Amino acid sequence: MTPDSQRKIFLAALLLLLVNLLSVSARSKTPCEFPAIFNFGDSNSDTGGLSAAFGQAGPPHGESFFHGPAGRYCDGRLIIDFIAESLGLPYLSAFLDALGSNFTHGANFATAGSTIRPQNTTLQQSGFSPISLNVQFYQFNDFHRRSQIIRSQGGVFGGLMPEAEDFSRALYTFDIGQNDLTSGYFLNMTTDEVRAYVPELLDQFKTIIKGIYDQGGRSFWIHNTGPVGCLPYVMDRLLITAAQVDETGCATPFNDVAQYFNWKLKEAVFQLRKELPKAALTYVDIYTLKYDLISHARKHGFEHPLRACCGHGGKYNFNAHFGCGSKIKVKGKEIMIARSCKDPSVMINWDGVHYTQAANKWVFDRIVDGSYSDPVIPLTMACHRR
Ligand SMILES: *[C@@H]1O[C@H](CO)[C@@H](O)[C@H](O)[C@H]1NC(C)=O
Ligand SMILES: *[C@@H]1O[C@H](CO)[C@@H](O)[C@H](O)[C@H]1NC(C)=O
Ligand SMILES: *[C@@H]1O[C@H](CO)[C@@H](O)[C@H](O)[C@H]1NC(C)=O
Repeated sequence: MTPDSQRKIFLAALLLLLVNLLSVSARSKTPCEFPAIFNFGDSNSDTGGLSAAFGQAGPPHGESFFHGPAGRYCDGRLIIDFIAESLGLPYLSAFLDALGSNFTHGANFATAGSTIRPQNTTLQQSGFSPISLNVQFYQFNDFHRRSQIIRSQGGVFGGLMPEAEDFSRALYTFDIGQNDLTSGYFLNMTTDEVRAYVPELLDQFKTIIKGIYDQGGRSFWIHNTGPVGCLPYVMDRLLITAAQVDETGCATPFNDVAQYFNWKLKEAVFQLRKELPKAALTYVDIYTLKYDLISHARKHGFEHPLRACCGHGGKYNFNAHFGCGSKIKVKGKEIMIARSCKDPSVMINWDGVHYTQAANKWVFDRIVDGSYSDPVIPLTMACHRR
């Protein structure tokens, strides 16, 4: 080879490298434009699943935004609603909801009370939803396959289904695990016993993510679990000694277990990144934000961080026998004894178990830019691998 042709080859190689570098950086700066969201989870992101199957979460749920019950355990919108809004997508219809559902931009498989572990009990027996994560995955499989048959048939129903390519371009969101932790305690397990089954939960979680990946899912947005030890329904029901209460007033053992779960969840996400070369997995630290909100409520413009807005009496305005919206009959007349507080917009806790719309918005506003994510990547870029 002459020195001249060597130089030409060198220049061509250099050019190729530059073109590659440019296209990589251009690609990583392109917003994802998710055409759909498929959500899996529990009441933190249920937009009507449990209500469709087991009866509507009645008034005053939904009062602050939907002006009536809207399948959500909240006075208004959930974090998943703010995610949909910010991506320019409609609120997600629950897969289980036969009435007025429109799945063109995704579907919600979450139900209140869902666990990662397959449930063997009815809702009446345990209080946990039979629609555990594995069932949500079966439903997603069915949805994926049949929505495309229905779409190909056209007409009114075909127009309510997502496009085939939306399944690989969609954002897959997850918020589940809290009920797996509380269910053990409600069965009188010790913290060590609860910790012992956390790895099994995450094996199950990984299996589901891989199942979705096998069906073309690529972008995963995974919320960790919140400080369950700061929630009235946990503090009211479980035995806590004075030494177990932290400076915020939350129960340390339950928060420790939640953090242990989160640590294992993060580890699972790291493993999944290795095993699924085409997946972009974003781990979102909801715990830190919710704990910050509760422990510095006043600074953030909120009041009574440990009290439920909608409830009935006691230290936490929470009574397990008279949940939010409960009514009793007095002289033949029904009266609501667990009503909403005057101003839910300054409260963090809605009903002793769930957060208010105002708190959900506060959390959403801080996760959307990616500053609480691993990798640090905004919601709109969550289709890109680091
Ligand atoms: C379903 O939603 C899509 C997107 O928001 C909308 O264009 C369409 O009109 C809706 N279909 C019905 C029947 O409401
Ligand atoms: C349900 O039963 C299976 C099989 O016995 C078990 O592995 C699983 O942990 C059980 N689930 C719960 C929530 O107890
Ligand atoms: C847990 O312990 C409490 C108090 O000892 C008892 O009343 C309850 O029946 C126990 N629950 C289960 C599921 O064993």
